[in-house]
Amino acid sequence: PHGTLTVCITGGAGQISYSLLPLIASGEVFGHEQPIELRLLDIKPALEALNGVVMELHDCSFPLLRGIVATDDPMVAFRHADVAVLAGSFPRRPGMERRELLAKNVNIFKAHGHALDQVASKNVKIVVVGNPSNTNALVLSHFAPSIPKGNITALTRLDHNRTVSQVALRTGVSVNDVDGVAIWGNHSATQYPDMTRATAKGELAMPMLGGRKVVAEEIIPCIQKRGAAVLKARGFSSAMSAANAIGDHLRSWLMGDSKIVSMAVASDGSYHVKAGVYFSFPVRCVGGGEYEIVQGIELGEFSRKYVSATTEELFAEREEALSLL
Ligand code: NAI
Repeated sequence: PHGTLTVCITGGAGQISYSLLPLIASGEVFGHEQPIELRLLDIKPALEALNGVVMELHDCSFPLLRGIVATDDPMVAFRHADVAVLAGSFPRRPGMERRELLAKNVNIFKAHGHALDQVASKNVKIVVVGNPSNTNALVLSHFAPSIPKGNITALTRLDHNRTVSQVALRTGVSVNDVDGVAIWGNHSATQYPDMTRATAKGELAMPMLGGRKVVAEEIIPCIQKRGAAVLKARGFSSAMSAANAIGDHLRSWLMGDSKIVSMAVASDGSYHVKAGVYFSFPVRCVGGGEYEIVQGIELGEFSRKYVSATTEELFAEREEALSLL
């Protein structure tokens, strides 16, 4: 028998939440026998819109949905939360400086870290989605000292899924037949979508992809800039694919996954990434909320330059965030 799982989503009235809620409430993420209580957090000006989302959730009449709380108070939203999806963040406005955006978000993740620290389940599983997600996760962990660092992650599964999909499309296999890709580093344009060990139907994909030159000049930039391309085409940022990736991230993390996936997690010094940043690594999810960073991968010269660029960016972002605290 399953107890009720309390799932909190911040930015509850936003685009990603709108695509994520049906996945969670229908049982697609946590299983079709897992009752769910939802906590939706947004800011006061968004509460009316949030109320509309609550109406629609009722109208879906999801059998697993045992309760919905909509609020602008983090202490209410995070109370006894078992899972928290942190998509609530300050959007970049035209002409806004990066530092200004970082400052707004540092304050949000500071407040949310404090509240999670005080009222969430000590075993809460957190995925930070709001950008800059790796650094927001770092700030959150700083202000939530009682929550184990391993329980705090940031989303790079969308980048991972984009890479799997590009390999599948370009080698003519189905996504199920692709394995061995990984995202290293920051969820930003410096991320390294690593295809050097990718396989398509068990065969090394690099030659089928056109070799290193094509991968470096076409495929890696395509993935790094995919978010901007969707934004330009749609006029809104990726929300459906982001929500789908959040579902995948949580399912792999909580239930385990036979394939290696990518998650930004607190570095433990693996691959010379100094502890203290949230860095995307290939991870093995063994089930029950446990995961390990895959060890022993040989990063060749081709990969190393990408990994150091994204590492440097993350450390600079960390310094900037800490200076704002
Ligand atoms: P959105 O703008 O539609 O929704 C954001 C929501 O957050 C709004 O309803 C806003 O009122 C709310 N919000 C703002 N401050 C808040 C606070 N202090 N507490 C609670 N809620 C607050 O944006 P969307 O499309 O849902 O994206 C959310 C975030 O996810 C953005 O930062 C976006 O850049 C990021 N993102 C990250 C991805 C990743 O792979 N890591 C992929 C796609 C988006």
